Amino acid sequence: MLPDSLKSELKARVAHAVTNREAVVDVMKELQRHYGWLTDEAVAEAAELLGLTPLQVEELATFYEMIYRRPVGKRVIHVCDSISCWAMGGESLMAHLARQLGIGPGETTADGMFTLLPCCCLGNCGEAPTLMIGDTLHGRVTPEQASEIVEKERSAAR
Ligand code: FES
Repeated sequence: MLPDSLKSELKARVAHAVTNREAVVDVMKELQRHYGWLTDEAVAEAAELLGLTPLQVEELATFYEMIYRRPVGKRVIHVCDSISCWAMGGESLMAHLARQLGIGPGETTADGMFTLLPCCCLGNCGEAPTLMIGDTLHGRVTPEQASEIVEKERSAAR
């Protein structure tokens, strides 16, 4: 259940939006931050806040790659698999991270720390290959740098 303070804040954001739909991603992201992922409860709460049906929220939630409808780790690693990153070694980067973390794409480590996900273009094609952890983009990432980034994130998340 949402704390009253967060509910009030989100109601205010929806009220300031030109249309309720404009606030959908913002509301879903805040609920996701609160619960760790967009739970069924969160979908229902988002629908109520936005004046939409849960099905409408569900449709939008499944459209956005950064909205998670399943439990994820504390840190989600998105590895771009679109054309520029693929051409610049994105596949090797994903394979390296999968080996390091002992999981496959789409999986979460047993300790609940990391989820590894392929994703579409992150808008950083000139710096391919690119990955994103949280809201931070990392470009021209070598496998060695990816390992360092992951270990820094691990320390920061503890
Ligand atoms: S193709 Fe990877 S950031 Fe655009």
